[in-house]
Amino acid sequence: MNQESAPPPSTVAVVTGGARRVGREIVHSLVRRGLSVVIHHGTSSVEASVLVQQIRSQGGTAVAVAADLRDPRNAAAKVFEAAVELGPVSVLVNCAAVFQDRALPWIDQYHCNVHLNVNLLAPVFLAQQFARQLGEGEYGHIINILDWRAQRPGPDHLIYTATKAALASVTKSLAQQLAPKILVNGIAPGAILPPEDRLNWHQQRAIQSIPLQRTGSPQDVCDAINFLLNSRFITGEIINVSGGEEL
Ligand SMILES: NC(=O)c1ccc[n+]([C@@H]2O[C@H](COP(=O)([O-])OP(=O)(O)OC[C@H]3O[C@@H](n4cnc5c(N)ncnc54)[C@H](OP(=O)(O)O)[C@@H]3O)[C@@H](O)[C@H]2O)c1
Repeated sequence: MNQESAPPPSTVAVVTGGARRVGREIVHSLVRRGLSVVIHHGTSSVEASVLVQQIRSQGGTAVAVAADLRDPRNAAAKVFEAAVELGPVSVLVNCAAVFQDRALPWIDQYHCNVHLNVNLLAPVFLAQQFARQLGEGEYGHIINILDWRAQRPGPDHLIYTATKAALASVTKSLAQQLAPKILVNGIAPGAILPPEDRLNWHQQRAIQSIPLQRTGSPQDVCDAINFLLNSRFITGEIINVSGGEEL
């Protein structure tokens, strides 16, 4: 491995929403890369502890931490307190999100607050904790998982899409504010895993609107994360992992 592709000297990563679905595959991918991983989760405590055991049984290092991102500032502090056990964190992947659809007449304050806190403010406070703990002379990566829909909003998922658009904005601002120590990028997935209550949703989309005529997989997201982690000269970028659906 040459110097450009070497991981940062500290090899601890935090993945939010890491117990299930896309987050879980990101955790596995980072472990394969040699990183120790702090697996943040919300309600999926059983899945998180099974994942920790699985990683440890394969010789990797992982801890799980529960924190409700609806209380973003306290949750971020709790996640980084748990990380102390493994050492300084050099990679933060903000993957956790809520994804609910409500038409305008049914949008209430709670729906807005949950999306704002989990999808936007939690990544901000986690970035704050991350930057605070990064040692002198160390560098790191923040990768925010966005959604290509934030670039071209549709009629649905009004508040969700707005929070992802705001997180894209935060990604570009923090890339400048935290340079040169921390590289901040985004990944904007398309149809990767369908919502659990609408399993054929993506297949219908794939036929109709994805130029590559298929859905993606969590591995496609992991490949983009690895690409960004291998770079020391890309910051403030958002990579669409969408099969061209945004075109
Ligand atoms: N799946 C796709 O095809 C797709 C497409 C575009 C963008 N994305 C983005 O990619 C990321 C991963 O997608 P996904 O489908 O795997 O996500 P997901 O299943 O909808 O949610 C990921 C995790 O977020 C955590 N979470 C939600 N609310 C929380 C809270 N209040 N406190 C703590 N954790 C909370 C949940 O953890 P617990 O289960 O532990 O509660 C959940 O497992 C998300 O940012 C999503 O917006 C996904």
